[in-house]
Amino acid sequence: MSTEEKAYKKIPVEELWEKLSNAKDCKSLLKKHLTKERYEALKDLKTSIGGDLGDCIQSGCINLDSGVGIYACDPEGYDTFAPVLDAVIKDYHKVEKVEHPEPCFGDMATIDLGNLDPEGKMIVSTRVRVGRSHSGFPFPPSATVDQRLEMEKKTVAAFETLPDELKGTYNSLKGMSKEVETQLIADHFLFKNDDRFLREAGGYNYWPDGRGIFFSKDKKFLTWINEEDHLRFISMQMGGDLGAVYKRLVKALEALSKELKFAHNKKCGFVTFCPTNLGTTCRASVHIKVPKLAAAKATVPDYKCLLDEICAKNHLQPRGIHGEHTESVGGVCDISNKRRLGLTELDAIMEMKNGIVKIMEAEKSL
Ligand code: ARG
Repeated sequence: MSTEEKAYKKIPVEELWEKLSNAKDCKSLLKKHLTKERYEALKDLKTSIGGDLGDCIQSGCINLDSGVGIYACDPEGYDTFAPVLDAVIKDYHKVEKVEHPEPCFGDMATIDLGNLDPEGKMIVSTRVRVGRSHSGFPFPPSATVDQRLEMEKKTVAAFETLPDELKGTYNSLKGMSKEVETQLIADHFLFKNDDRFLREAGGYNYWPDGRGIFFSKDKKFLTWINEEDHLRFISMQMGGDLGAVYKRLVKALEALSKELKFAHNKKCGFVTFCPTNLGTTCRASVHIKVPKLAAAKATVPDYKCLLDEICAKNHLQPRGIHGEHTESVGGVCDISNKRRLGLTELDAIMEMKNGIVKIMEAEKSL
């Protein structure tokens, strides 16, 4: 298993500001929205558990190639550092105001999202995930080993209440056998401590204590414990059956919400470590073969290819298939909804579904 880690090294906020303000080629939302005035007003503030501006911005100041560049030091950080976080949130989620509707997943008895690719020609796999934080626990920069272990214990107990078809096995990263590790890597289920953005935000403090992965017997429902968020619930399967993937996730959430208390408020919806995930926290994605769109020239110079242009128009985000910050391989891309806050879960899924249908039509027309 990946080596044990201590807490990350905190860099003084003045030093971080120096790096960010001198950066020439930095296009992050942090650089855009942390003005000198905001920096001056926020640099000495602290949340009640001691979270500060440095905790929020260290990742984006060290990794000047960040797209976003800011995290919340702890849940209260969304209020304490609202002048910069709200500006980033509005820009990322394309909303006028930072506010979020009540959760609405749709009526499971009647909802019919269907299979986006019944012939199985373009969509390799479909995945929907949400993030959750345990109410009353801090985010990675301030979480202690004991708090992570307590979160792990609570969550593992809650898995016992899942309906039979979702029950499965929990694998703690700490002390994981070589055999289990190799299997999880081969199945592409294992998350690792190799993301420099998350590392610099304190995400790997005391790794691998309190981290682990649960999966159902058919491996279509997964939970990541204490990766970036306290919890990531994931439903996935091969092919394009978005309806089945979504319903499975909602079913799991219904059961687990009865056992666990998730942090939630009117402003942010479900609260997450990174401001890109707030609100519904829902990222619905497909791995899809779109070699022609990926090779075609965009009609305007702002985009690398026609695929990027259509994605932007439809609030979709293209990524490589080996996770965030990777390139597409052989014309297969990961495409997902980009906005998660200011709309309901059902809206976010529909935004993804409608956009994917457009992408498929565009690919076929080339
Ligand atoms: N902080 C990174 C960046 O700005 C990641 C942002 C979104 N991704 C995430 N896993 N939270 O590029």
